[in-house]
Amino acid sequence: MEDNRPSWSSRLTFILAAVGSAVGLGNIWRFPYIMGQNGGAVFLIVYLALILTICFIPLFAELAVGKITKKECIGAFESVNPKFKFLGFLNPLTGVLVASFYFIVGGWIINYIALSFAQARIEDYSSYFVSFIQNSVSACGFTLIFLFICVWFTARGIKRGIEFANNVMMPMFAVILLGLIIFSLTLPNAHLGLEYMFKPDFSKINAHMFLAALGQALFTLSIGMGALLTYGSYIKEDKSILKSTYTIIFSDTLFALMAGIMIFPAIFSFGLEPNSGAGLVFITIPQIFAQIPYGNIVSAAFFILLFAAAITSGISIIEVPIASMVERLKISRTKACTILFFIIGLISVPATLSFGVLENFKLCGKTVFDFLDFTTSSILMPLNALFLCLIAGWFLKIRGNHFIQNKFFAFLFDIGLKFVIPVILVALLYIGLK
Ligand code: TRP
Repeated sequence: MEDNRPSWSSRLTFILAAVGSAVGLGNIWRFPYIMGQNGGAVFLIVYLALILTICFIPLFAELAVGKITKKECIGAFESVNPKFKFLGFLNPLTGVLVASFYFIVGGWIINYIALSFAQARIEDYSSYFVSFIQNSVSACGFTLIFLFICVWFTARGIKRGIEFANNVMMPMFAVILLGLIIFSLTLPNAHLGLEYMFKPDFSKINAHMFLAALGQALFTLSIGMGALLTYGSYIKEDKSILKSTYTIIFSDTLFALMAGIMIFPAIFSFGLEPNSGAGLVFITIPQIFAQIPYGNIVSAAFFILLFAAAITSGISIIEVPIASMVERLKISRTKACTILFFIIGLISVPATLSFGVLENFKLCGKTVFDFLDFTTSSILMPLNALFLCLIAGWFLKIRGNHFIQNKFFAFLFDIGLKFVIPVILVALLYIGLK
């Protein structure tokens, strides 16, 4: 059976795919606005501290569990103890639910790419955005197109689909990002944006900021859904995954910072506010494009950048349920992808409509979109990460001294994996549910 499992062509393609998973809307859409809402530079310091001290442990653990068990999530958990099968099942389930709202934002991006090419003149982006997301037919259509593209790549398999998408999208992403950074930094008063990002105002520090930073760190590193476990299970060669862990963390952080350096100078240069929340990328930024020469070209580049980032992450999200379906149900990839297309489509349509006709349809007092966001980000992802760390630390007995030479750091790793991270995750769950 194991020999039939797909695997990465090389270490590089694995790293590219894992970085492609991590670098997504979380970096370019979510990171700048969460930073904008949480005081800029101080948030950045807290965020970096958490990533370096805490978040690398669950990331490493996910990759390690995948690489050791060589199975998709359900099989991986089951092979540790058959009783854990159910806990493993939560991962693909989370994947389906995350996809159902992540892909809606993917659909918005496709719409904005089309708008840029159509050279549409829009007077008021704020009311445009609201009326677009309320318009059921087009919003659903774009969500389904985005879903289809992700499913199409995934259906082609690891080498021809997932690797191919990452090999094309990630370099394109990096080149456009660099181009836009140069553009942004040459705008008048660009330094104000850099000051906002890098000059901390410690009076703004508060407890909520830690929570926001931790949530952001887990999301952007793709922790808590089995995506890295699944990608890790396709690693063939016996190389250390500690190095891969650092590469993923370093690249993801670098790309988040670069996204900030692209966005904040432009925002400050045009005297706009950085704290407009989720609308930052879809309302505030397009306002800038509307005011500059060749704005539609810059706008197309920006949204293609977002698209590339979202596709490679989207693929990693659906690979989790796909791998489970293929290996558990013994069906072909194409069949699994077709079934999944309909399942995610069925959930994402009401979620898309929750901005429009289904605005008043509430689940536990939340619209469908908010409900999916909340149950996954605040409950399922921390829960999955918790189970994973407990299984890795207590049952698979992954120990720091297997891969860290320095005894003290190896000891810290063990304490982190077995006690500190689980306690932090329980606290996160408790606060999220309160
Ligand atoms: N990390 C991605 C981003 O920053 C999103 C993502 C991809 C993700 N796969 C995941 C989040 C798995 C949580 C779990 O946009």
